[in-house]
Amino acid sequence: MSLRFLTAGETHGPQLTTIIEGLPSNLELDFEALNFQLHRRQKGYGRGRRMQIEKDTAEILGGVRHGYTTGAPLALVVQNNDWKHWQNIMNVEPVEGNDEAKRRIHRPRPGHADLNGGLKYNLKDLRNVLERSSARETTVRVAVGAIARQFLAQFGVKVAGQVRRIGEIEAPLHHLPIDELIERTEASSVRVTDEETEKKMEAYIDQIKKEGDSIGGIVECIIEGLPVGLGSHVQYDRKLDGRIAQGVMSINAFKGVEVGIGFEAGELRGSQVHDEIMYSEERGYYRATNRLGGFEGGMTNGMPIVVRGVMKPIPTLYKPLQSVDIDTKEAFTAQVERSDACAVPAASVVMEHVVTWEVAKAFLEKFGGDSMEEIHANYQNYLKQLGNY
Ligand SMILES: Cc1cc2nc3c(=O)[nH]c(=O)nc-3n(C[C@H](O)[C@H](O)[C@H](O)COP(=O)(O)O)c2cc1C
Repeated sequence: MSLRFLTAGETHGPQLTTIIEGLPSNLELDFEALNFQLHRRQKGYGRGRRMQIEKDTAEILGGVRHGYTTGAPLALVVQNNDWKHWQNIMNVEPVEGNDEAKRRIHRPRPGHADLNGGLKYNLKDLRNVLERSSARETTVRVAVGAIARQFLAQFGVKVAGQVRRIGEIEAPLHHLPIDELIERTEASSVRVTDEETEKKMEAYIDQIKKEGDSIGGIVECIIEGLPVGLGSHVQYDRKLDGRIAQGVMSINAFKGVEVGIGFEAGELRGSQVHDEIMYSEERGYYRATNRLGGFEGGMTNGMPIVVRGVMKPIPTLYKPLQSVDIDTKEAFTAQVERSDACAVPAASVVMEHVVTWEVAKAFLEKFGGDSMEEIHANYQNYLKQLGNY
């Protein structure tokens, strides 16, 4: 059985819930490191009040004993601290009261799932769509990715993320070693590697906010330390770059994904794109460059994985956009709502975990075993095979 998870829960419900199945036994979990990843998602310049209310903490309710996974499904929940104010509005039992008391929504917001979901599920209260389509769900996607990250770390795999662009401001690439990249982006309010860009981005976000608008950007994830051969060329749904792309596109507000130089490959000649194959006693086979972002034939090639995703500007704006009321069919301009102006730094953390999850899944498919000991033995055996090739 391959690794899988499902999530459940609403943004103003009591909690978000996930069950992960297929984790091996004897994986030591660091709970502090898990919560650290949840806190990273909540930070970032340009975020609003909700992030101050929610101090996300993961509670594990099954599948772990005395700090180690048991091989049983891992049940994990993250409470919504704002729930106390929403108990009546989000009650699972029928409640008395008018639309206002129930906070019924009949005015769909452009750029959100509201109208499509209302029409598709025949829901006349668009809150039933909004509550689930909210990016709050990415909290538990970070939690499952954080567990995947701890699993991969046992094999020396490192994951980093950085913001490459916010609107008009592009972050210059500094080609840093991964540990320094992690350290510098962690110290930055917008997850970039230099202070000059950070200041420019902060000022830019302030300006966007003042104008009642929102802004998106481009984020990048780098994963180092993976062996050649995760994923496969033999079947479309085993191509790991394709699976990563699906994962990235499933993140709220993501509108595009690139691997390596991505769309730039359409502008360059073959000789400027493909990475030449080299060999040394010390490194074995490697590529002279990494323009293809660690993938050839849907498989890892041993070079770092480099994936970028583009996030559209947040759709809830202070600047009203036109829409149509589902009760009256009359046009209105969406009311001003409290919302973040920019969530690109947070989205960078989400994308890191989404990509990490897909990689961990492929890792387990390749070296699969029921316990960490078995996986380590399979992994070592494969490294030996590569060494003898
Ligand atoms: C980390 C993160 C935070 C977000 N915060 C908000 C927000 O505060 N307000 C908002 O309108 N949309 C926000 N979004 C985007 C919406 O969730 C998303 O645009 C919406 O669910 C529609 O989905 P789609 O854009 O993928 O089509 C956020 C997205 C992410 C990844």
